[in-house]
Amino acid sequence: MTTNSLQVSVIARERAASDIVRITLASPDGAQLPEFVAGSHIDVHVDSGLVRQYSLVNHPGERGHYVIGVLLDAKSRGGSKAIHADFQVGRSVRIGAPRCNFPLLTSAKRSILFAGGIGITPILSMARELAALGQAFSLHYCCRGLDKAAFLDEINALNLGNDFHLHLDDGTPDQRFVLADCLPDVDADTHLYICGPEGFINHVVDGAEASGWATPQVHVERFSANVDVTGESFVVVAARSQAEVVVSKEETIVQALARVGVVVPISCEQGVCGTCLTRVIEGSPDHRDMFQTDEEKGAASQCITPCCSRSLSGRLVLDL
Ligand code: FES
Repeated sequence: MTTNSLQVSVIARERAASDIVRITLASPDGAQLPEFVAGSHIDVHVDSGLVRQYSLVNHPGERGHYVIGVLLDAKSRGGSKAIHADFQVGRSVRIGAPRCNFPLLTSAKRSILFAGGIGITPILSMARELAALGQAFSLHYCCRGLDKAAFLDEINALNLGNDFHLHLDDGTPDQRFVLADCLPDVDADTHLYICGPEGFINHVVDGAEASGWATPQVHVERFSANVDVTGESFVVVAARSQAEVVVSKEETIVQALARVGVVVPISCEQGVCGTCLTRVIEGSPDHRDMFQTDEEKGAASQCITPCCSRSLSGRLVLDL
């Protein structure tokens, strides 16, 4: 085990919604867990070789335990299905130390939080932090129906009054989510935070940008993405491993490198988590990920997500 991973136990497990389970993890000896900031996630080692990332739901000040919410994904590639079936109270679980790709700017004058479905998990941690700091914010939580809405007790405990809006697709017309009614006028001191399914995120981001919100004020956390990983074949070189292989039209760089014994750590395999991020030494990446910003993708010293990205040049040399 590395210093970045730790062994914890499942100390509680409850149904949070019809398809979401709330799991509480704590150190077996009751020791404090590594600190985290709102919007953080942890790697959860589900089974041998299967790692999935889950946002921490609880307030960052709570160091005695971590809470995650796990949606049983109908298209599960093994992760959420195994957690729902096997993560019972008492089970030992290996996790990574918290990391944050979705930081909250606590100095903003106002924050508007948008959660779609399971996207409530990092958003709830943010709401708890903003409430604890006494900062102004609104929370919009969009669900298909009331049975799909998780953590309502926790949200109601924040006593947000008119600053909490639960939008239900199958609810009354006034409960439906109408973005134009939820977006305030553009304000340089207000920031938007969005998490949920890809379609929900794109809807809110596109609407915000069309309304004049500047990109640096719009913060997004993606759990998954539909990404086309196919394209023309090219040669990839793992410089440190002194290995070279042709990446065929249908395979990823990670898959091609595995054939010659170069193992790249991966998690989402969809270009959203950043686990596989690798420095490019030579060549022109064809970025397919949603993890890096446009600025990062255009930087002189570039990185690539080899789980899904490809090459515009015939040869790509990576720092592997
Ligand atoms: Fe998640 Fe590559 S494994 S971005």
